[in-house]
Amino acid sequence: MEETQNKKTIFSGIQPSGIPTLGNYLGALQNWCKFQDDYNCIYSVVDLHAITVRQDPATLRHRTLELVSLLLACGIDPNKSLLFIQSHVPTHAQLAWVLNCNTQFGVLSRMTQFKEKAASHADNVNAGLFTYPTLMAADILLYQADAVPVGADQKQHLELARDLAQRFNGIYGDTFKVPEPLIPKVGARIMSLQDPTKKMSKSDENQNAFISMLDRPDDIMRKFKRAVTDSEAVVAYREHKAGINNLMSIYNAATGKSFEQIEAEFEGRGYGDFKKAVGEAVVELLRPIQEKYDDYMKNKDYLADVYTKSAEKALYISTKTLNKVYKKVGFVKREF
Ligand code: TYM
Repeated sequence: MEETQNKKTIFSGIQPSGIPTLGNYLGALQNWCKFQDDYNCIYSVVDLHAITVRQDPATLRHRTLELVSLLLACGIDPNKSLLFIQSHVPTHAQLAWVLNCNTQFGVLSRMTQFKEKAASHADNVNAGLFTYPTLMAADILLYQADAVPVGADQKQHLELARDLAQRFNGIYGDTFKVPEPLIPKVGARIMSLQDPTKKMSKSDENQNAFISMLDRPDDIMRKFKRAVTDSEAVVAYREHKAGINNLMSIYNAATGKSFEQIEAEFEGRGYGDFKKAVGEAVVELLRPIQEKYDDYMKNKDYLADVYTKSAEKALYISTKTLNKVYKKVGFVKREF
């Protein structure tokens, strides 16, 4: 990363809990790339977060490398940004502990994502799942990040990170920068293709509900063809048209065409034509990424070089904050 003092810092993370979806791409990853010229960007594949849900070890290891490859294929440039694996940088877990001791049980129990995940993984409601947001706050606060690009579903966690930073600063004196969320206007909440009232998620049991970033063109076209819409047969962005609104958002994010332009383009034409156009736009959006992905996956040494050098730098930057925190809370300075 070119260390540039006058640029602001961005931090964001993504879990290696499956191949990212079109939702992850439009809500977050696409922006991660765009910010690289104007900010010091620090991005992480957050494997510590992923084990809050039971993971098969071999699969997790594979998915972590898959995700590093995919992020490079999307355009994350290691000459501009850091791209590291969270478990390689121990300061994350270290700061998370201190933050846990400064976060109230009641606050964490109100987190929507905790309530949802506790309901969908009722057999494994572990302490890590509960304290997930404090680890996420540690990720961000360690780098004194100014801004955090995320999809809308992470807004509540970011508010918690801001509150924590403010409260910690209030008790111990100025320690953390208070980060701003960067939530895109379009694409912040891409919905399931099968139930457009639910967000598109890589862990959905119904494969037709989401587009994986590595889906083949045939699968992408088929999934859009089957997408749930309504019986009105009018391509327009309106209330009570969640399915069409979602497809219009995807088409808008993929092509840059405004809702008015899309409405005009499909006036008097059926949903079949529209779904086909959305599918084709997404195939074209993902094609160059998929081509590059295969090359990166074949080059494990290059991947290791990227995530190792990035982790070394991330450790250096984050240790400064951790040392400051340890001093403020009263720990004796380590002399080795
Ligand atoms: P994760 O791995 O679930 O998702 C990664 C990013 O994708 C966004 N996203 C979506 N955007 C639009 N539509 C959707 N359907 C959709 N689904 C997911 C997410 O908002 C996210 O930006 N807790 C985080 C990972 C994390 C993190 C952090 C993020 C850990 N530490 C620090 C920012 C800063 C998560 O589970 O994202």
